[in-house]
Amino acid sequence: MHDRGYYGEFGGAFIPEVLVGTFDELVEAFEAAKADPAFWDEYVALMSSYSCRPTPLTFAENLTRHFGGARIYIKREDLNHTGAHKANNVMGQGLLVKRMGKSRVIAETGAGQHGVATATMAARMGFDCTIYMGEVDVERQRPNVFWMERLGAEVIAVTEGTRILKDAINEAFRDWVTNMDDTHYALGTACGPHPFPTMVTWFQSIIGKEARRQVLDITGGLPSRVYACVGGGSNAMGIFSGFMDDDVELIGVEAGGHGIETHEHAARLASSDATVGVAQGYKTYFLQDDDGQMRETHSVAAGLDYVGVSPILSHLRDSGRVRFSAATDREVIDALSLTIRKEGLIPALESTHAFVQAFKEAPELSNEDVIIINQSGRGDKDIFTVADAFHDPKWEEFIIQKAEEYKNA
Ligand SMILES: Cc1ncc(COP(=O)(O)O)c(C=O)c1O
Repeated sequence: MHDRGYYGEFGGAFIPEVLVGTFDELVEAFEAAKADPAFWDEYVALMSSYSCRPTPLTFAENLTRHFGGARIYIKREDLNHTGAHKANNVMGQGLLVKRMGKSRVIAETGAGQHGVATATMAARMGFDCTIYMGEVDVERQRPNVFWMERLGAEVIAVTEGTRILKDAINEAFRDWVTNMDDTHYALGTACGPHPFPTMVTWFQSIIGKEARRQVLDITGGLPSRVYACVGGGSNAMGIFSGFMDDDVELIGVEAGGHGIETHEHAARLASSDATVGVAQGYKTYFLQDDDGQMRETHSVAAGLDYVGVSPILSHLRDSGRVRFSAATDREVIDALSLTIRKEGLIPALESTHAFVQAFKEAPELSNEDVIIINQSGRGDKDIFTVADAFHDPKWEEFIIQKAEEYKNA
């Protein structure tokens, strides 16, 4: 265990002896990159030419009129290449991998967005790539598996445990322990052992830097509140970091699943169901039982369906800097439907959690207030889940017909 990377009592690096050298190398490469202004410039130039940065800040005029309170702005991370903020982190880590002279990257993925982003980075930068994904997520996010394989990645469906994100992370760590000489583990969120929470936040801080500049340019002032969904915490930390020292309220929205009272959710910080523990190399709030066994979580959004949460956010919750709430699956589907119809935007199910809370609070505020919602990704990947939720008979007919064609081929 290193004494670096603590946020209050949370964080740290609880890693096997065999990985200590690999982590030291990573910390050193990251610190050197951070201290070198040319590295950040190279990163911004890459993201501008390859991933549509700066992403726009869109005024949601119709939703603003609909709720009749705060002026609602949406930070458009969905416009990144591969459709989510995940690109910011992986392209940054890809540049670091080059600096470290490694040739292979591995990653875990839940919704598949981080897997697609990592496979894309590997294709672009010429690395071998293996992605670990829980079997349950493979089933609900098949289109992303298809694209990862087209991009040249090997996708390994993890059949251990409850076969979701936490199990994929465990498998990725097992791989790393065996292959650390040539392999970098491109962890996808602001969790895990130090330096990942700090490093992922640093790459994602591009969102907050841009958003702060844009909201000042467009509205002449700072927002009253900023909303972001929280899975592991990377898009939230990315946008929050731009406003951390301002008088701006920061709200993280977790997966309320079937409702907090059912205990079938992934609300680590918005419920009292989680307790402090150490797992997967770091200390934070986990949804675990009295014996420290990880509990089953549930969310309609695969990317929020995780037992742990960024140690930085645990600290910011306990110190009162960030407020947390949860949105249920049903509320998410309703908010998605409204956003599609009113603004022509299709946020990812993950991102829509942030919209739910913003929609609840916007009417309480005045039109002097500006709020920003971070649209962390686009919803195209969710077509199967959303079509089920909307019970669209034409879609069901199309799928049945397609299945018949495959059967008869
Ligand atoms: C679109 C989108 N938003 C949010 C998340 C949650 O991750 P994080 O909390 O690290 O931003 C995911 C995870 O897969 C995602 O795909």
